[in-house]
Amino acid sequence: MLLGVNVDHVATIRQARKGFEPDPVMAATLAILGGADGITVHLREDRRHIQDRDLRMLRELVPVELNLEMASTKEMIGIATKIKPDLVTLVPEKRAELTTEGGLDVKSQKRIISDAVKKIHNTNIPVSLFINPDSESIRISKQIGADMVEIHTGMYANAKGKKQEEELSRVIHAVRYALDVGLVVNAGHGLNYFNVVKVASIQGIRGLYIGHSIVSRAVLVGMERAVREMKELIKQSAGK
Ligand code: PXP
Repeated sequence: MLLGVNVDHVATIRQARKGFEPDPVMAATLAILGGADGITVHLREDRRHIQDRDLRMLRELVPVELNLEMASTKEMIGIATKIKPDLVTLVPEKRAELTTEGGLDVKSQKRIISDAVKKIHNTNIPVSLFINPDSESIRISKQIGADMVEIHTGMYANAKGKKQEEELSRVIHAVRYALDVGLVVNAGHGLNYFNVVKVASIQGIRGLYIGHSIVSRAVLVGMERAVREMKELIKQSAGK
């Protein structure tokens, strides 16, 4: 099973100061050294984290799958067809949301999404649709002509106890059904070091897309070394 690492939140930290660090492009190269099979970025309409420059540089640098998450807008379709990522994942986007809140509403947005898929396909880029784990969304995704779907695991990730078991079973059924209708199936959102195992055990999933928990862990596992290096620098310079 592949792991696509989403580096958006490295850019979130950078944008807190609008400076040069930490650079999501550098983070991506380190993620690849760590074994990432792909790098994902979400270029949002409001550019709150990833910037156009990041995407251009990642396209130059990333030798593994570069997955661009984006809304089905004219601007984003223009960018995708110019930059040519290895995969486009269409996601819903609301300005005020903290993160992508739900899967695409493929039923009511069918025309818009299907037009976007066609335009992206014209430049030979495969398209994945980020959808909730329900059979109607899967059926419509297939009709629209998507190559893949990414099953939203956020409801599973946020639930507890019995409800979490129910949400897991929805994900399992959705994966099976999507495979049956002939789609390639990925999964993601909200997966972390505690809840990933049950999803990673589902047969037939091509890849998992994970961001927040990996960036969060990177901050913590890197803290001790970062402080030690700063202490060393101060110690060496003291009294000079
Ligand atoms: N998949 C999609 C479609 C997403 O929008 C996101 C969040 O950007 C992720 C996966 C990764 O989610 P998380 O950051 O919770 O791991």
